[in-house]
Amino acid sequence: MFEKVLLRNIEIPNSHEIGVYENAGGYKSLATVLNNYKPNDLIDTVKESKLRGRGGAGFPTGMKWSFVPKDTKKTPLLCCNADEGEPGTFKDRALMEKDPHMMLEGIVIAAYAIGAKICYIYIRGEYELSINRVENAIKEAYAKGYLGSDILGSGFGLDVYIHRGAGAYICGEETALLESIEGRRAQPKLKPPFPAVEGLYGCPTVINNVETFACLPHIIERGPDWFKNIGPKESPGPKLYCLSGQVKRPGLYELPMGISIRELVENYGGGSCSGKIKAVIPGGVSAPMFPENQLDIGLDFNSLAAAGSMLGSAGVIVLDDTTCIVQVITRITEFFNHESCGKCTPCREGLDWSAKILLRIEAGEGKHEDLERLDSLCNTIFGNSFCALGVGASWALQATLKHFRDEFVQHIEEGKCPFH
Ligand SMILES: Cc1cc2nc3c(=O)[nH]c(=O)nc-3n(C[C@H](O)[C@H](O)[C@H](O)COP(=O)(O)O)c2cc1C
Ligand code: SF4
Repeated sequence: MFEKVLLRNIEIPNSHEIGVYENAGGYKSLATVLNNYKPNDLIDTVKESKLRGRGGAGFPTGMKWSFVPKDTKKTPLLCCNADEGEPGTFKDRALMEKDPHMMLEGIVIAAYAIGAKICYIYIRGEYELSINRVENAIKEAYAKGYLGSDILGSGFGLDVYIHRGAGAYICGEETALLESIEGRRAQPKLKPPFPAVEGLYGCPTVINNVETFACLPHIIERGPDWFKNIGPKESPGPKLYCLSGQVKRPGLYELPMGISIRELVENYGGGSCSGKIKAVIPGGVSAPMFPENQLDIGLDFNSLAAAGSMLGSAGVIVLDDTTCIVQVITRITEFFNHESCGKCTPCREGLDWSAKILLRIEAGEGKHEDLERLDSLCNTIFGNSFCALGVGASWALQATLKHFRDEFVQHIEEGKCPFH
């Protein structure tokens, strides 16, 4: 059985309290860092561990930190992305509700590495309990000297503030998130400049996901070699998988990176509800789905990219053979259309037309030409969208059209949904 790392405390009663976290060895890594590491050594250690960001894109964390310019008069800022808007994803919520100090300890470690004195935690507004728990954890950490102007007598100081999101999916995109903190409408911005060079209020800004921060105390405690030996060489470490949909045992599973989709769904999830899997979405609804005969792919950044999908937020959604795939992709496309920020035409108009055509096919009123229209819309949106929302939405639709074309044709030819 895989030893729990990120979820190691969550079965302990009151695991969100600082005393429980300290008794389990919490904040020892922070002391080690402040006593024994120079910021550059810390960045090298994280690079050596091969930790890649858990927010979606899988960018190497140490490398991102090293982009912060050393010769600037502007003090770098740190942001924690706790927006968690991707449907099918609930790992950051569990970490914040059950073990907020693990994330906070990681935040102080990261701030020390990049020289930040302020960190903003951007939490999805609907996450009421997460907000309360993190708020309380921040108070506890100040009282114990893990936050404030002179952390553990080291002379290093950090203040942490919570920013509540207001419900838009696009706020999770890092440049839109920074716009939102600055009080503007959350729309993505052109890169470069990358936030690590010029981000929040024009200062170098590092943005990392909740789970990325939670990995850091463990890398310090057990060393980068331990971390990089878990799972595949190029995307190692313990990983939280959010298993949902038509599966017998849905839930949050901590397993090594690279475990196959089939193993997660069959061995841990107990298989699909009907006993026959039709498809699995591996990384939240923006990740292209795989049909049943392609489930032996590893759940890690490189394996999924090579197979034409992505690990994304590791929201693994199971669809069994009672599911209408046309209905599923129609709901997903309606979601993306609703969440499109409207900044660029291919995504704003293309998703609106895609949703309209899909609704028509779902209702049994589609035409054969509609499938070519959808293919053409996907090609236009995919290559020409300003940010990854449009890319993900069209990619997911394109894959569904490819793998399950027969089901679309059946809706068109029978003039109704064969499942309802
Ligand atoms: C439309 C969109 C939504 C996103 N939503 C989230 C989110 O909710 N949480 C998150 O951590 N990253 C999200 N991301 C990825 C972030 O832009 C960014 O890559 C990530 O926070 C970086 O952290 P990491 O390097 O630790 O993964 C989203 C990206 C896009 C394009
Ligand atoms: S791709 Fe969509 S969400 Fe992204 S900037 Fe364009 S309109 Fe906005």
